[in-house]
Amino acid sequence: MIADIIVDLQYGDCGKGKVAHHLCKKNNYTHVIRYNGGCNAGHTIYHEGVKFVTHHIPCGVFFGIPSIIGPGCVVDPTQFLKEVEELKLAGIDTSQIFISTNTHIITDFHKIQDSKDTEIGTTKKGNGPAYRDKYGRKGVRAVQVPELADFLIDIYDELHVNSDNPVILFEGAQGFGLDIDWGDYPYVTSSHCTAGSALLNGVPPQAVRDVWGVAKIYETYVGAKDFEGKDPVFEEIRELGQEYGATTGRPRQINWLDFDLLRMSSKINGITKLVINKFDILEKMNVWKLFDGIQLFEFDCGDDMQHWIEENITSSYLEEIFFSRSPEYI
Ligand code: IMP
Ligand code: MG
Repeated sequence: MIADIIVDLQYGDCGKGKVAHHLCKKNNYTHVIRYNGGCNAGHTIYHEGVKFVTHHIPCGVFFGIPSIIGPGCVVDPTQFLKEVEELKLAGIDTSQIFISTNTHIITDFHKIQDSKDTEIGTTKKGNGPAYRDKYGRKGVRAVQVPELADFLIDIYDELHVNSDNPVILFEGAQGFGLDIDWGDYPYVTSSHCTAGSALLNGVPPQAVRDVWGVAKIYETYVGAKDFEGKDPVFEEIRELGQEYGATTGRPRQINWLDFDLLRMSSKINGITKLVINKFDILEKMNVWKLFDGIQLFEFDCGDDMQHWIEENITSSYLEEIFFSRSPEYI
């Protein structure tokens, strides 16, 4: 068994969807598995020139690769079935979409409860209450929902009994800064967003080949806490980078790259590849800054900032760094 893991190193919205799409095209994966989160996620994917935003369904669907929503996720049946229909209407083959029998369900009650949140600034998709009930042992699993019967899969049988040497891509949601344990609690989501979380979906640690860490050249965050820096340039970055939530449409707060966070999330996730997206946005502005702790560094040009990052990102397993400009490809 071989597994590659995609993990977000900041606060979500770093372009995991783009990296997943690229890797699916390049490698012969037998399965793509979403490993955490619910429809609070919004993955923007350009497939054959058309823009798609998926919330639940892994990227393998665009390539006819069996695509599984794993037991580390929570799934809203209404939203899920809607997404399947939308993909079908767009001409995508939806016959290879599956939900693990033991994946927990976001119920209408969870959504009503989440809609009352004002403290965290949640996406109001019922994510927190669904995980709360899962861990409180009061949850509902996918196997109990008749509407999902056609999509159910036993992930143990699929990966360990019926497949010879599966090659799996794990697609994560949210990001390290939102992780329930490592993020800025309580301004976090209710799932684990690290590479370790992927392994909770029924795959042994020995299977892991690459961990693809995904970041942006600046920082964004959506939620209740104050995050945006004072520089008026952030307004321009928001417009140029189209930094509005893919799920809720909320403007994302912007700040300079938090290198401390990047260093820490790179180490904890054991990344072997690092993709830093949206380099082109700072190129258009020609402003190059980052925070290392409380110290703000300013660079004369993109090359200088790139070299500084390459020299200072001391993560033991890291083999390659990609600075990415286009919305579509690495
Ligand atoms: P929840 O996951 O909906 O409970 O929201 C908790 C926090 O995580 C809020 O600050 C959300 O804005 C943030 N969040 C949840 N999902 C995403 C995502 O996919 N991208 C960015 N932020 C997210
Ligand atoms: Mg997103």
